[in-house]
Amino acid sequence: MKKVAVIVSALCMLVAPLASIAASPDQDLKDFRKYYTNLFPDVPFQDFANGVYSVDKGSREQWEAFEEFPPYEIFVDKGEVLFNKPFKNGKTYSSCFPNALKGIKQNYPFFDKNRGEVVTMELAINECRKKNGEKPLKYKKGAITYVGAYIAYKSRGKKSNVKIVDTEKSMEWYELGKKFFYAKRGQLNISCADCHIQNAGKRIRANNLGPALGQTTHFPVYRNKWSLKSASGDGMGTLHRRYGGCNKQVRAKPFKAQSKEYRALEYFHTYMSNGLKLNGPGIRM
Ligand code: HEC
Repeated sequence: MKKVAVIVSALCMLVAPLASIAASPDQDLKDFRKYYTNLFPDVPFQDFANGVYSVDKGSREQWEAFEEFPPYEIFVDKGEVLFNKPFKNGKTYSSCFPNALKGIKQNYPFFDKNRGEVVTMELAINECRKKNGEKPLKYKKGAITYVGAYIAYKSRGKKSNVKIVDTEKSMEWYELGKKFFYAKRGQLNISCADCHIQNAGKRIRANNLGPALGQTTHFPVYRNKWSLKSASGDGMGTLHRRYGGCNKQVRAKPFKAQSKEYRALEYFHTYMSNGLKLNGPGIRM
């Protein structure tokens, strides 16, 4: 009997640290969500998917007007054409994404156990192209955002469902992303959290700062600011394009789109919005 007890307690000691590793992202998520639901008690949970417009009543009306004739629509259409256009080998994107029309974006990014790394939607799009003998697309804007917008559109209404796999390697990626989010950086020495947690709902220069909860649900995004920069008026950009912009705001050198750092950040950041319905692509003013 005594022997059994010893074995059981030894087993518990083995299991306990594993369990606490598993519990920690879950606890992070609960704390993260609770912070915002306490700070903005009048905002219904699902409304956080609207980003800054969930808390900024002033710009909400103008944004809703944009949503009535959304400028991203033509890019969704372009994405549909690209999605169905055969590659040189005759296959299409659907050979890599057989369930795309039912909605798959909610499961991205995911940790690929065999590869030991985080795979984002954009990475998967380019890997599909390479597998089929096509050149990869640029990661921040252009065609990748059209295909991404079409996939996002087909995933509307699905709840963000990122899984933090309970392995040492995936926890490493998760922790890297979390650290990135809370680390001060740039000449201004400001973290993502300083702006999007501590100061969410407050103003910085002419801008209102949105909560980090719900920031990932609507990408790729059409941004009026980006459209003004483009000769053709194409304002579409990926999440990593936006990460780069937010890094530059604090005068930090941005990382490359799809770098390990930004993929890890996306893993943590998107996981924090689990349970929110996807509503991409979005329009941002
Ligand atoms: C100096 C303040 C500041 C810092 C630091 C900052 N941001 Fe932002 N960010 C903004 C402002 C202002 C906007 C536009 C309003 C909004 O959506 O919150 C924005 C927008 C965003 C958006 C777009 C949200 C949407 O709904 O489309 C994302 C995503 C984002 N930030 C992520 C980050 C991440 C990740 C970091 C850290 C790498 C970061 N930001 C750091 C100020 C900041």
